[in-house]
Amino acid sequence: MEIREVAVVGLGTMGAGIAEVFARAGIGVVAIEADPQALLAGLGTLDASLARAVNRGRLDARQQADIRARVRPAAAFADAAAADLAIEVVPERLEVKRQIFAELDRVCSPDAILATNTSSLSVTTIAAASRYPGRVVGMHFFNPAPVMGLVEVVATVLSDDRVPAAAADLARRLGKTPIQVADRAGFIANALLLPYLNHAAGLLETGYATAVDIDRAATVGIGLPMGPLALLDLIGLDTSLSILEVLHAEFNLPRYSPAPLLRRLVSAGRTGRKAGRGIYRYPAAVPDGVEETAGADLAPDTVTVIGAGDDQEAELASALAAAGLNVTRNAAHPTELVLIVAESGKPVLPAALAAGRATEAVGLHLPGGLGNGALVELIATSLTSEQAMRAATALAGRLGMTIVRAPDRPGFLVGALLYPHLADAVRMVQDGYASPADIDTAMTLGCGYPRGLFELIDEAGAADVLAGLRAMYIAYGYPALAPPPLLAEHAAAGIDFAVAPPGKPATAGAGARRTGSAR
Ligand SMILES: NC(=O)c1ccc[n+]([C@@H]2O[C@H](COP(=O)([O-])OP(=O)(O)OC[C@H]3O[C@@H](n4cnc5c(N)ncnc54)[C@H](O)[C@@H]3O)[C@@H](O)[C@H]2O)c1
Repeated sequence: MEIREVAVVGLGTMGAGIAEVFARAGIGVVAIEADPQALLAGLGTLDASLARAVNRGRLDARQQADIRARVRPAAAFADAAAADLAIEVVPERLEVKRQIFAELDRVCSPDAILATNTSSLSVTTIAAASRYPGRVVGMHFFNPAPVMGLVEVVATVLSDDRVPAAAADLARRLGKTPIQVADRAGFIANALLLPYLNHAAGLLETGYATAVDIDRAATVGIGLPMGPLALLDLIGLDTSLSILEVLHAEFNLPRYSPAPLLRRLVSAGRTGRKAGRGIYRYPAAVPDGVEETAGADLAPDTVTVIGAGDDQEAELASALAAAGLNVTRNAAHPTELVLIVAESGKPVLPAALAAGRATEAVGLHLPGGLGNGALVELIATSLTSEQAMRAATALAGRLGMTIVRAPDRPGFLVGALLYPHLADAVRMVQDGYASPADIDTAMTLGCGYPRGLFELIDEAGAADVLAGLRAMYIAYGYPALAPPPLLAEHAAAGIDFAVAPPGKPATAGAGARRTGSAR
């Protein structure tokens, strides 16, 4: 199917970007707006984006003019008559979308494809209202559309086979990577992202960790471009809440049940960045990292390091000695602070009690190893004194590490955020909804993750992720933390999820055998 002209209905945040993407690919765009002001604003967004590209040397004036000339504001819906594809990008309300589809049914040729950019409504429900449901498909672009490389192409049980295939071809022509999925709430990216964000809000609400520490654990500890709480503020707590409600209605699992904090903040009008206040205040009141430098003079001179006798313990002891501390590994020697090198999945308290110095003992977990700027999780047990925590903070600051504080619970902070997120991804594969390769593509190209979730699992080792989840499940008993059998199978077999090379679809259980044993 050749797509020469498209109609874009709704020129708001997403529609303006989508119109630009089509026009840049040489496709004529008829822009349909209900609100003349919104039309002007949308065209203004498009003009500003093209002007930026010219300033950066990515387009010349001629290309800019050609692209702009391809976008034609429509006087009426009837102007969509010649479109080979029409995409609706109107607000996320089913009745509005159905109305648009009724109009498009009336004016478009029966061969034209009708697409929806919905994030969370059922494409099937929208399609069922169309006169020709076989031609309806979801084309879910990500914000900002000209930048983000992913399009989730959503087929329904009513779709003609050629329609999702044509939408995927079109996405490729636009320079995007399509992934084809069935119609399920949240598709891939939102169904994985939102429960992770919700869980982070829950950790904040229950006092598990501070907002800054939660975000820092995600950015410095996991390597994500943004912390989950800052991301909630950016997406909008109201938008996040409504997507979670849709996910919860579809799956009825506690992980999608919105954290009460989100509802409270939304009712209070604290909807995030756009409102100047959400979880954080905007512009940010306190520069990140200030508290580390304060109190550096509290750093102790003598410290005991206790660990499993492995390389990490030795490395920490020598780094501390190099920083001028008097270091011993004998718990009987009197020192100002006891650092217990914590292992993922193992509580710190038993080691602190065994050392006979529980009030002076602080757990120290290094998810990415030692190094300047690397993350250190400082773990207070129920017996750790405030003074010991302050001393450990000052010490880690002296080593130049990025500090977060976590309770002595399974996963500490990085694992508490990450393991359930990874389990959701494995469950999605186990459900037969998506392949590890598609999930990694969705999270990297749609959400800007530097590495996919399966890449992260393979890097940590399925056995480690399984042990972390199992410890969390035993501690809390929440069904969402129950390790998915597929993860246990990979851990037992010692195989990676190894995303297959291009052209060879990765399937569950078909991962590469690990070299060496499962970690
Ligand atoms: N904002 C995002 O980050 C994002 C990301 C992916 C998908 N989406 C989805 O894209 C869709 C649009 O979201 P948005 O953020 O661009 O919304 P928006 O409110 O910024 O824009 C919607 C536009 O549609 C116009 N409109 C309303 N009714 C209309 C009608 N009957 N005919 C023509 N135009 C009409 C409005 O005037 C407005 O300009 C939603 O389905 C949303 O879920 C949004």
